[in-house]
Amino acid sequence: MFGRVKPLDAILATAEKKSLHRSLGPVQLTLLGVGAIIGTGIFVLTAAAAQKAGPGMMWSFVIAGFVCAVAALCYSELASMVPVSGSAYTYSYAVVGELLAWMVGWALILEYAVAASAVSVGWSGYFMGLVKSWTGFTLPPQLAAGPTWTLSGVDFSHGIINVPAVVVALGVTLLLMRGTKESATFNAVLVAIKVAALTMFVVLALPRMNAEHFAPFAPNGWFGPAGSSGMGIIGAAASIFFAYVGFDAVSTAAEETKNPQRNVPIGLIGSLAICTVFYLLVAAGAIGAIGAQPTALGVQPGSAEFTAQCAALAAKGSTPLVCSNEALAHVLRSINYTRAGDLIGLAANLALPSVILMMLYGQTRIFFVMARDGLLPAKLATIHPKWKTPHIVTLMTGVFVAIAAALLPVGQLADISNSGTLFAFFMVSVAVMILRVRDPGRVRPFRTPLIWVVAPVAALGCVGLFFNLPTEAMLVLPIWGAFGLAFYFLYGYRKSHVGRGIMDQ
Ligand code: ALA
Repeated sequence: MFGRVKPLDAILATAEKKSLHRSLGPVQLTLLGVGAIIGTGIFVLTAAAAQKAGPGMMWSFVIAGFVCAVAALCYSELASMVPVSGSAYTYSYAVVGELLAWMVGWALILEYAVAASAVSVGWSGYFMGLVKSWTGFTLPPQLAAGPTWTLSGVDFSHGIINVPAVVVALGVTLLLMRGTKESATFNAVLVAIKVAALTMFVVLALPRMNAEHFAPFAPNGWFGPAGSSGMGIIGAAASIFFAYVGFDAVSTAAEETKNPQRNVPIGLIGSLAICTVFYLLVAAGAIGAIGAQPTALGVQPGSAEFTAQCAALAAKGSTPLVCSNEALAHVLRSINYTRAGDLIGLAANLALPSVILMMLYGQTRIFFVMARDGLLPAKLATIHPKWKTPHIVTLMTGVFVAIAAALLPVGQLADISNSGTLFAFFMVSVAVMILRVRDPGRVRPFRTPLIWVVAPVAALGCVGLFFNLPTEAMLVLPIWGAFGLAFYFLYGYRKSHVGRGIMDQ
């Protein structure tokens, strides 16, 4: 299985034959990246990061952004050499063989599908916040949130099913099944809305900055109190990493890009740079305006204990930043910009579904390529006669996404998604080095600068962040991986086109 490598030339030939229309330029690609990146991470998870790290979350944003930047440089080299669909899965197939490529593809399901669930839950918080602000209506908590999960059990006392999250996940799935394409113009409008909302937030919140809100700067230290997992500045970085996920959607679009050799790296690095600047300003604005206000130190956001503490505070009429489901809107309302708070809520409501769409779309694309390689049943890639979309795989993905969104809190979903993403990024960082040694003569339109520093730093950064995720999220990867291995040996190993000598279908 390790020897079953799909030769780069075969990959490029397949892409050449089946290539999609190349229509995206550097600006559209950067916008595509910003469109896929800005979402629940900054709009919602800022609260969880504040609970984990306090004002020190400023460092968390820098660290997570740095790991993404070095990983993006590695991605760019592979994306420019192998400008085809399938992202990390395709690169791994060419470099480290079928088994590991399958495992990367399997991990990408966590990245894309679970991220779509996380963004659905994030949308739900903003939607209910806006409805409450406009009409005073609130859903019973049992219908507005999922239960809380720990290694010792499930607690239904503060939530059973997140109905709005299910509705938005299934709604976006239906749109995708009917063939709603992410149109470049529509995407540009939504990006403008998100950027305008974040700009408004920064402009209103930064002048209200109070230096006292930054002390103590790191209440949970770098790694959190002894015995806790996934806390402190590094723990928050591992979670807030989610806010940067999505830039690889740019590399997934390589097959639809004009002059990908030049434009994919521009799109990747450009979108990441724009988002990092915004995130730091927003984090400074949120903390500066109302402070991090952690509840009891060392308590994991999303845990039963944390939810109970927030419920007790809410009963007294107080909602600290860390307990808010709509962090940025909450900050603005707390400093008496009620209208602006509602506007941020509206922007999130309009824009987050496009992130869900992008993640679901990316997921179906990866399934599609895996089915094209024979590792998944070809039936999954069946195209609907009228809608011209892979409707079966889209529906299956959508139902999975809706179930996860119904039953898990946003922070845990984001952490699970991160565990898959960090694995995929790690593999890409390793693959780029292997390819430099094994195939040094191949044309590399984009070369990772200082690769022998950048790629090891990216790989180590991914490992470091992974081991600072909460224990539950860390455990998901090996368990999910075991299912993936079983599926591979029962199905993909026998059916693989490469294994059966079918090089180009
Ligand atoms: N980066 C995307 C978000 O924050 C996934 O929602």
